[in-house]
Amino acid sequence: MKRVLLGISGGIAAYKSAELVRLLIKHDYDVRVVMTQAATQFISPLTFQALSAHPVHTQLLDAEQENAMGHINLARWADVLLVAPATANCLAKLSHGLADDLLSTLYLAVECPVYVAPAMNQVMWHKAVTQENIQRLTQHGVIFIGPEAGSQACGDVGLGRMTEPEAILRSIIPSKQGIFQGKNILITAGPTRERLDPVRYITNRSSGKMGYALAEQAQKLGAHVTLVSGPVALSAPKNIHTVLVESAADMYDAVMQHVTGQDIMIAAAAVVDYTPGNVQAEKIKKQKKQTELNLHKTKDIVASVASLNNKPFTVGFAAETHNLEHYAQDKLIRKNLDMIAANWVGQAEGGFDSDVNALQVCWHNGQKTLPITDKTQLANQLLVLIAERLDA
Ligand code: C5P
Repeated sequence: MKRVLLGISGGIAAYKSAELVRLLIKHDYDVRVVMTQAATQFISPLTFQALSAHPVHTQLLDAEQENAMGHINLARWADVLLVAPATANCLAKLSHGLADDLLSTLYLAVECPVYVAPAMNQVMWHKAVTQENIQRLTQHGVIFIGPEAGSQACGDVGLGRMTEPEAILRSIIPSKQGIFQGKNILITAGPTRERLDPVRYITNRSSGKMGYALAEQAQKLGAHVTLVSGPVALSAPKNIHTVLVESAADMYDAVMQHVTGQDIMIAAAAVVDYTPGNVQAEKIKKQKKQTELNLHKTKDIVASVASLNNKPFTVGFAAETHNLEHYAQDKLIRKNLDMIAANWVGQAEGGFDSDVNALQVCWHNGQKTLPITDKTQLANQLLVLIAERLDA
């Protein structure tokens, strides 16, 4: 991937795109710039012409520009379309397939991967209709880079700052493909199932989608993956060493058996916390009006791994219905983890069963929000963060 079609829409963050072009050129990318009318109000096309060493495209219906390289040729030329900054208006247009200017038309005409780096006021970012547009675009395969939290040009503080050019570059760079080359990663996924008697069990709503997405993406990034999975409805990922287990105790045994030599352990499984003290050999009869379950705490798998002398870089998950950040930080420290990925469950979007999710990722001296996106993209973003922390 060497040819970047950079779309710039009209936000104050457009000034950062000049640095982005400079970085792309420095990394041997061939860059063509497309600007919306509003973008040209913030920064001159001449700046981008000078930096990219090519004329800047601003018009859809301009015979001269179309003669130089028509919009269809421009779309065919690109290995990647990157829109930075992408304003709320730009996202709305893309998500609805409008094609009333060059950039929105190019979005419809390209067949290459599309990345967007949104930038807008934090209230606009959180507005329900913007979130709906983001979700639509995500479902259509658009990859979101950021936005970041912090102080904004308008004086607000919150989510909506465009990701810094360096980080945007890192997100689209193909060398990511090898970031886990030679690394061994152990991943737990799915729920566990704790038998009560021959026909009944205790479990939870975990679908295993996040853990499976992590396993598949980690393998694509070059890792040798071992997946320890509880009972799920997903088919086993191709060419990944998958150990199928049932109970929390089985999962503990399988993890301990495979942990030696692992560089990274990601505990995405929703391990059942309490298991029946003794499994009844015969089906429990419903004669009594009330009955009691005698439950014992299961062994904490990820904490056991994190307490090993030669522990891998250990990543846990925290699914919470309230006090997300507080519980996540508590688990990070209490379980001696290197990183924790926290997400809300029991909300309208994301969490168990869902194909999309958002994560608040914390480590010992930092954190990052990964906004709602499909679990494959999210897995990728989390893995890139893990690789960065591992390096650090
Ligand atoms: O304490 P809690 O269950 O909320 O912690 C969640 C994290 O701990 C997840 O990463 C989960 O996979 C892991 N865990 C575990 N073994 C348990 C319970 C949780 O590995 N018995």
